[in-house]
Amino acid sequence: MGKTKTDPDNTLPARFADRHKLYQWSVQVPDFEVKFMTRQFKKFRGRPARLMREDFCGTGILACEWVQAHRKNRAIGLDLDQSTLDWGVAHNVARLGKGADRVDLRCADVRTVTDPPADIVCAYNFSWFLIHPLDALVDYFAAVRRSLADDGLMFLDCYGGWEAQQVIEEPRLVETPEGMFTYTWEQADFDPITNVASCHIHFELNGKRLRKAFTYQWRLYSPAEARDALLAAGFRDVVVYWDRSKDPDYDDYRPATRAANQPGWLAYIVGVV
Ligand SMILES: C[S@@+](CC[C@H](N)C(=O)[O-])C[C@H]1O[C@@H](n2cnc3c(N)ncnc32)[C@H](O)[C@@H]1O
Repeated sequence: MGKTKTDPDNTLPARFADRHKLYQWSVQVPDFEVKFMTRQFKKFRGRPARLMREDFCGTGILACEWVQAHRKNRAIGLDLDQSTLDWGVAHNVARLGKGADRVDLRCADVRTVTDPPADIVCAYNFSWFLIHPLDALVDYFAAVRRSLADDGLMFLDCYGGWEAQQVIEEPRLVETPEGMFTYTWEQADFDPITNVASCHIHFELNGKRLRKAFTYQWRLYSPAEARDALLAAGFRDVVVYWDRSKDPDYDDYRPATRAANQPGWLAYIVGVV
């Protein structure tokens, strides 16, 4: 990180160089995910989901969005990094006012079996890719299974396609109420034997760069592997949601059992107890 000459498009002042805030602005879409889980749970179970556990919750922004969506909604968040959780309590949970009592962020491994049983456990932004090899993933899903209510559901997202294996840097301008900044997703390395990719997130503001603000070493699991691991962990069924929209600005995820191959894709996966 340092004071440098940066692209004139980056109008966001350097005082906003907070990696958690920039991350939330760049990659998190909690309103979409809350609506998706709410709608799908009701469709599957014919009742509303009330307790949601957010795994790898980081700053807990999804947990906060969940409790804001309904006055009876409660959320548990699990993450190993206390400093990130503290940031989330100060910046996200504190904003909820009385609703803050319904968010319980815990510094714990996602393989912890939690109480009370949750209607939903979710792991978004591909964080479950951090659990490898495959037998570790099965252990994780088994702990989730034991943390879910008898009619609970697990929600995951997943990305892939041949572009996911390429060494690339993908910059994108992000608009905020305070100005614009550049978010860059870098795929630095991919090992075809282990399927493990090394990825970095960089940010560039007006006069400031944050190189390697976040780094991940994760395994690019496929939906087929997620399915096998969920079934091995005791889930009864697995549904993959594929984007059927022809319009690149609009997503329309629907259950699918087959899909045409494509250079890059994003899917949602639901494990059914
Ligand atoms: C990719 S970030 C995800 C942040 C946020 N959930 C999101 O959707 O963007 C990964 C987070 O997982 C946490 N983490 C990694 N391994 C973990 C584990 N075994 N148990 C709990 N948290 C873990 C890290 O501390 C980090 O905050």
